[in-house]
Amino acid sequence: MQGCVSLGIDLGTSELKAILMDENGQVVGHAGARLEVSRPQTGWSQQNPEDWWQACLSALQQLRANHPDAWAAIACIGMSGQMHGAVLLDEDDQILYPAILWDDSRAIAQAQQLNAQYPAYALTTGSLAMAGLTAPKLLWLKQNEPDVFARISCVLSPKDYLHLRLTGERVSDMSDAAGTLWLNVEQRAWYEPMLRATGLSLAQMPVLRESTELAGRLTQQTAQQLGLAPQLPVACGGGDNPVSAVGIGAINAGDAFITLGTSAALVAITDTPAGDPPSAVHSFCHALPQRWYTMGAMLAGASCLRWVTGLLGQPDEQTLLQRVADALPHGRMVALSNPLFLPYLAGERTPHNDPLLRGGFMNLGHDSTPAMLGYAVLEGVGFGLLDALNAVQSAGAQVNACALVGGGARSEYWAQLLATILNREIHTLQGSELGACIGAAKLGFLSVGKGAALLEIGMPIKARFFPDPQAHTALQARYQRFRGLLGAAKALRG
Ligand code: XUL
Repeated sequence: MQGCVSLGIDLGTSELKAILMDENGQVVGHAGARLEVSRPQTGWSQQNPEDWWQACLSALQQLRANHPDAWAAIACIGMSGQMHGAVLLDEDDQILYPAILWDDSRAIAQAQQLNAQYPAYALTTGSLAMAGLTAPKLLWLKQNEPDVFARISCVLSPKDYLHLRLTGERVSDMSDAAGTLWLNVEQRAWYEPMLRATGLSLAQMPVLRESTELAGRLTQQTAQQLGLAPQLPVACGGGDNPVSAVGIGAINAGDAFITLGTSAALVAITDTPAGDPPSAVHSFCHALPQRWYTMGAMLAGASCLRWVTGLLGQPDEQTLLQRVADALPHGRMVALSNPLFLPYLAGERTPHNDPLLRGGFMNLGHDSTPAMLGYAVLEGVGFGLLDALNAVQSAGAQVNACALVGGGARSEYWAQLLATILNREIHTLQGSELGACIGAAKLGFLSVGKGAALLEIGMPIKARFFPDPQAHTALQARYQRFRGLLGAAKALRG
């Protein structure tokens, strides 16, 4: 362990993770605590912010117990978190309603209403209104829970609730604020017309800072509870995708990466906002000043593989992946007539902006095997990412080689398939599972004037995958068929 330590926390949807990282960027220890999502109605997805705080305390207690020396050397805290969630506080900072999460689709009608009434706003906010983003959720509350809405004193993004518990401050950063749709992404300031459109005002928004700035300092009470120095600096941190970008070293225009987790995204860093609302990409603020990113977001990514593994009664994803690799090894062309899969298990953001779209298999025959279906799922998610890539490029963002992170990056077979589908180098990284925590810890250091050199250091490349030109041509024909199925999927939507 070298010098002092930064505590990096990532509030995910299924787990809160925390790491201790020294000034050389070495991860000294990590811990996690599971989180549950409650889905009381179709399309609803919510969590209790108190559970986030309890998970945070549990992960930090593990770190403290297992790494007492590093714990004693903590000099700062940085945070990352799931984006687009709405945490509603009354004037005493009490929770008014369960936090409505990024994959909740109850606000479909309100998103449509905002797009229809204020078509020009998307250019300023960096994205079309979508049910999963924060602003339409507040319009839903105004229309469906007027009593709760009337009592809202402040709306926070998920990780900002942890800031509140740690520091007592109502603060947010540019990257999470962009995900609310209430931000003027170019000016990096709240956009009052959109606030008004959802019945809110500036007074209900947290203070805005850059992710690298201080959100506040630990309160006496929390410092005592955690065994940390009172007044310990806490950085603003940011949303999980931009903070992961900081973690893996995607900090300059042209850097790009794919996250393949529950959801999936293709993220390209830009040095000016590069949006294209009609293609349903997001152009949001990066977690670094004067940087932005353009993102094509898919609502189901590696979760499609988990789903089909269960559906086919396979013992685990690894077994299914092995069957796919045995039956359809790279280098052997996949027949045009093989099954195809649309990955819209949870609807889709980019490029369709349609939470009600649903997925499906097509072209099944008596000869279709579990391996063929498994392959179709990997390929279908890849085609969804190709749609996202095309949308990101249509916005003017440059995408060269892409890093691949998230649970899906564990499959070399999938990484090779993606390289061929997307027709560019894909590389996996050592240590990327903790990318968001590492990015958070780096932001912690930056907020106390340390770690500028760490920012430049990316993660070591684990493996590189290059496109196979012959297979790429064959896959383009399958992609055209995949695109041709969209009309049928739209006709069947609920
Ligand atoms: C990003 C997005 C997800 C969530 C949850 O736009 O919706 O990545 O942040 O991880």
